[in-house]
Amino acid sequence: MRRARIGAAAAALLVAAAALAGCASGATATKQIVGVAMPTTTSDRWVNDGKNVAAQLRALGRTVDLKYAEDDVPTQVAQIQAMIDEGAGALVVGAIDGTALKDVLAKAAAANIPVVSYDRLIRDTPDIAYYATFDNALVGAQQADSLLEGLGVLDAKGADTHVTGPFLIELIAGSPDDNNATVFFQGAMKVLQPYLDAGVLVVGSGQTDFATIATPKWNGDTAAQRLGPILDTVYANKRVDAVLAPADIISVPVLEVLRSHGYGTADKPWPVVTGQDADIPAVKALIAGEQHSTIYKDTRQLAEVAVSMVESLLKGEEPETNDNASYDNGVKVVPSYLLKPQVVTKANYADVLVGSGYYTQQELG
Ligand code: BGC
Repeated sequence: MRRARIGAAAAALLVAAAALAGCASGATATKQIVGVAMPTTTSDRWVNDGKNVAAQLRALGRTVDLKYAEDDVPTQVAQIQAMIDEGAGALVVGAIDGTALKDVLAKAAAANIPVVSYDRLIRDTPDIAYYATFDNALVGAQQADSLLEGLGVLDAKGADTHVTGPFLIELIAGSPDDNNATVFFQGAMKVLQPYLDAGVLVVGSGQTDFATIATPKWNGDTAAQRLGPILDTVYANKRVDAVLAPADIISVPVLEVLRSHGYGTADKPWPVVTGQDADIPAVKALIAGEQHSTIYKDTRQLAEVAVSMVESLLKGEEPETNDNASYDNGVKVVPSYLLKPQVVTKANYADVLVGSGYYTQQELG
């Protein structure tokens, strides 16, 4: 009897709570919309990011407004503005230019719309709530480690082999307006600098400063166009042994410019070329023995982190974070959740990428 009475009371409470929730959601029905602003469809990873975030939000009953801005900053600003205007309850933003969203995000803040900075840190604004990303410094370090391992300077376990080289290398960095590009490069140089100082590695072109080697908009053709003349001149009579490429969207055109300069033959074997994202064309290049490594970042996991941040924010709860020190955006240290990236080579791609269901073997040809 008592149990029944308690049950009835609890049920009544539940009904009341549901009515309240219904009322709240009725009054602000548009708060169910989550705006997802992504930078570009030119690389598999961002296509997967958008798909995964949208699917996970929809599975939780949210309406998703997913937009891609194709690397055009004014387009991204306009898309975010439209999301604010349609009354989105939260925004997930993968920025193109991390410094260009200050004004539009001030409008989001004025409308009480919380913003999750997705993968790339949005800078110079107080108006982002949380940051969901991978450990970007570790990405750079892993790229450098795999370059050294490909050259035989480190063994498979990462121990120094005391091979002295000298090995001729070239450096490429990502887009200067993307905070990640600097973090990747600094992470890589922390590992490479001692070998450069010791003369084990030599940058043939002498181009080492970030501004010179950066690649605006992560445009792989731009990077290949910088490398072409270097191959024609500096490497007219010698071989480049490794190229630090920061992402697959860059490594793939770089492989083409190398191919057009005779690399990938008995005379001129492929240099050790790095990458990032496990984009399908790059994984195919790994399998073909052309690209040495990529860095796998499981975008399903990143979507999960971002979506759970959004859900917490919409419920007025505090999202889970695991790093509250690393990412100062110029205005504040942004509470972050960092996921672990992983090096992928020809040796482990099947286990890591196919085994985890990220790709089917068929997709990889
Ligand atoms: C991402 C990388 C990606 C690059 C180019 C970076 O911000 O973290 O995964 O390769 O942008 O799209």
